[in-house]
Amino acid sequence: MQVLHTIDALRAALPGPGTCAFVPTMGNLHDGHLALVRQARAHGLPVVVSIFVNRLQFAPHEDFDTYPRTLERDAELLRGAGADLVFAPKETELYPQPQTFKVAPDPALADILEGHFRPGFFTGVCTVVMKLFQVVQPRVAVFGKKDYQQLMVIREMVRQFALPVTVEGADTTRAADGLALSSRNGYLSTAEREQAIALSRALRLIADRVRLDPQALAAAEAEATADLKAQGWAPDYLTVRRRDNLLAPQPGELSAPLVVLGAARLGTTRLIDNLEF
Ligand code: PAF
Repeated sequence: MQVLHTIDALRAALPGPGTCAFVPTMGNLHDGHLALVRQARAHGLPVVVSIFVNRLQFAPHEDFDTYPRTLERDAELLRGAGADLVFAPKETELYPQPQTFKVAPDPALADILEGHFRPGFFTGVCTVVMKLFQVVQPRVAVFGKKDYQQLMVIREMVRQFALPVTVEGADTTRAADGLALSSRNGYLSTAEREQAIALSRALRLIADRVRLDPQALAAAEAEATADLKAQGWAPDYLTVRRRDNLLAPQPGELSAPLVVLGAARLGTTRLIDNLEF
């Protein structure tokens, strides 16, 4: 496995456009990322993993500066998982000038939920993913479903720009107690880590209740939100949405494929999770 830091070196190491499977990451890898690599490997193509903490998707008050940069450990894990190439550019390599051209996703999809609480987040994500797609030119790219809205925004970007890449979603990898793996779980104290499972439990309760009694949707969301608050969380949203467009389901749409999405802060750590049902 090679670790490459420049676009030229990466292009020289690949046989050409459309010849690799790609997993974009911000590093600080965990088993969830390694599951994405295994899914990418199943395509029988060389697997490229990028590690780049993308300033454009962080608001000024967020954790860009403190986001863990653990390249050596990440490279070891990726070697073990069978990645072929790691692309870990410096910021000046990917953004040699300030990145003033940006990819602005459709506000109907990108300004709700995560985009409402993190304005500009999906513009930052789309801009770097578009750039990484130009650099890596993958045939397939794998993204985790834990970032459910991100996966939808990227699929739509690929569709609207007719990008020659197939986007695949990968199921969320969970710890034994059900907590969705996330690089940000590392910020949790021991006590918070024990409490952290409450978010996915709340989503499960909402989903089970809505399947039994669709009329109880608003009450299920409100009660789960109040329960989390009572346990010391600060929820941004716990909400049931249509899987196809992330809009709130109308009364006649409650038997359609749905997803319940949640984001909440525990102490200073903001966690997100979702459950399709
Ligand atoms: O999901 C992530 O880790 C990031 O948003 C991504 C897709 C690597 C873009 O920086």
